[in-house]
Amino acid sequence: MSNRKILVTSALPYANGPIHLGHLVEYIQTDIWVRFQKMRGHQCHYVCADDTHGTPIMLRADREGITPEQLIAQVEQEHRADFDAFGVAFDHYHSTHSEENKTLSSLIYTRLRDGGHINSRSITQAYDPVKNMFLPDRFIKGDCPKCGAADQYGDNCEACGATYSPMELKNAVSAISGEKPIEKDSLHYFFNLGDFSDMLNDWTRAGHLQPEVSNKMAEWLQNGLQEWDISRDAPYFGFEIPDAPGKYFYVWLDAPIGYMASCKALCDKLGIDFDSYWNKNSTSELYHFIGKDIIYFHALFWPAMLHGADFRTPSAIFAHGFLTVNGEKMSKSRGTFIKARTYLDHLNPEYLRYYFAAKLSAGVDDIDLNFDDFTQRVNADLVGKVVNIGSRCSGFISKRFDGLLSGECVEPTLFQQFIDQHSDIANLYESREFGKAMREIMALADKANQYIDDKKPWLIAKEAGKELELQQVCSVGLNLFRLLVVYLKPVIPSLAANAEQFLNLPPQAWPGDAQPLLAHRINAFTPLMTRVEPEKIAAIVEASKENLQPTPQAAKRFDPIAKPIEIDDFAKIDLRIAKILNAEHVEGAEKLLHLTVDIGDETRSIFAGIKSAYAPEDLIGKLTVVVANLKPRKMRFGLSEGMVLAAGPGGKDIYVLSPDDGAVAGMRVK
Ligand code: MSP
Ligand code: ZN
Repeated sequence: MSNRKILVTSALPYANGPIHLGHLVEYIQTDIWVRFQKMRGHQCHYVCADDTHGTPIMLRADREGITPEQLIAQVEQEHRADFDAFGVAFDHYHSTHSEENKTLSSLIYTRLRDGGHINSRSITQAYDPVKNMFLPDRFIKGDCPKCGAADQYGDNCEACGATYSPMELKNAVSAISGEKPIEKDSLHYFFNLGDFSDMLNDWTRAGHLQPEVSNKMAEWLQNGLQEWDISRDAPYFGFEIPDAPGKYFYVWLDAPIGYMASCKALCDKLGIDFDSYWNKNSTSELYHFIGKDIIYFHALFWPAMLHGADFRTPSAIFAHGFLTVNGEKMSKSRGTFIKARTYLDHLNPEYLRYYFAAKLSAGVDDIDLNFDDFTQRVNADLVGKVVNIGSRCSGFISKRFDGLLSGECVEPTLFQQFIDQHSDIANLYESREFGKAMREIMALADKANQYIDDKKPWLIAKEAGKELELQQVCSVGLNLFRLLVVYLKPVIPSLAANAEQFLNLPPQAWPGDAQPLLAHRINAFTPLMTRVEPEKIAAIVEASKENLQPTPQAAKRFDPIAKPIEIDDFAKIDLRIAKILNAEHVEGAEKLLHLTVDIGDETRSIFAGIKSAYAPEDLIGKLTVVVANLKPRKMRFGLSEGMVLAAGPGGKDIYVLSPDDGAVAGMRVK
């Protein structure tokens, strides 16, 4: 077996949100593949990083009153902890907001520019006149120009599926300030993808892509390649373009370069040669695992950028499908948008690693997490078939033979059958047919269990004078168990490590020529894995529910009607239409949001107990009603100069009032 030199990446997760189970399909898939390569003795390195740039991260930091640097540092910690807990073992985890990435992004840009592949010209875009920034499509909302559906994003309508430019939206408003966007011109920089159409035509058909992906690319290439807008105007969180002050690289320009940056940091850490991975004549292998939503960036832009800047292109791009839960898209209201952390609070991460492995193939089909199937499969396969053999056989070996295995293998043929499967199983791992690999391994587990069931060591143990036979049968069982564990090791590394400890073995490599363990002393068996308890899954779903709709019960617990009052009593209350100019979290306050509202002639600062039901960004720009003549109230966090009207019992069931169209800030409500 020749020693391959392999660099592997997973897509860089955005630093604006937590890792969820959908992400984990990818990181677990990649990690299994990398662990397999390492067990085979190849020099394989796995690098990744947080993808930290762009408008959403800048705005979120803004809202939370911290710098983007603070935000991404905090998110990186969380991402790292989640990956770690799931056994996703990067050789290096970096950040796109790093020196390495800045240097490499400048280098690649400069080479592309000097090669004549960058153009610049002025374009007209939507601009928020209050926030003083250009608005990305998803920060503009309005009515669909085709079907009229309200509250649609700037690029497409979720109601009718139409696509359009944000300027075509009716009644468009900035989702940041609520203001009507204006049109403004600005100089933009473009990467001329068309210069690479011949190269890409060849590259996308040369076996670097899965067949279905390659076909999709052929369609895209037929439609012709558009130039790609790679610049954004300040304010933007990213890298300034070297020769263009005030212009920044679009996040997707420096994101894939983050793969190189992370590799650079790894090479510096290990003292190995970066160029040998990336130079044009590199003989090392380079693989990118990605989701099918980002194929365009990886199969067209990225190879073109690398080629244009005189670097090597990837050996292959491995795309996977999307995770659905119980057959549907992950949903916050159904509790199936499950964060990695929520899962970890309740269940063993290796259950999920095994389940995903059992479902994964080399294709781009979506994969479904079905909770009943999950429970059944983990319990039947891992606990019922694999762990069970270990526990059934080890008891007798420990108690009767002081942990010593028999000096002879009495089933050499059976043992050899297990060994003979190694290259089939290896081929399935290599080709990312993990589901098929799991089925082969479980078929072997069935064989091992069959052997034990036939020999019935629990009966042999009761017969006098059959000591040797008992030791031999249990030793065969444990030798088969050992091979099952080695085959499963890329998938369930922590169980495998515990099993190695109990079998008193060093970390096992891929078993090409393994011999049975003879007269070998094992340690006492420790429970390796317990069954999945369905209550735990119910608890995860409950904890993941972000109730956007009122529950019927909650909506119906009404207070009794209050005592009658005179019209004069009511007239004392000065209610005004108010526009929410800003909303933000309050450091240390569990329930409050800090609102800045415009009530016509003045701006008020109000603390409202609505945090459990509203994200600040959902309030900004909204009109509501406030009690304007309530005496200012000193609160722990500052002075509150009014009260926002809202209905509902509390928690997630709070509904801020809003007036009909036409009302403007300052109008009195009578
Ligand atoms: N930041 C970009 C990638 C830049 S790579 C140079 C990005 N980030 S992401 O956080 O949205 O997604 C990271 C990876 O997770 C992507 O490959 C994406 O396809 C994958 N997944 C995100 N949600 C997923 C599912 N629900 N199911 C399966 N994979 C999913 O895209
Ligand atoms: Zn529409």
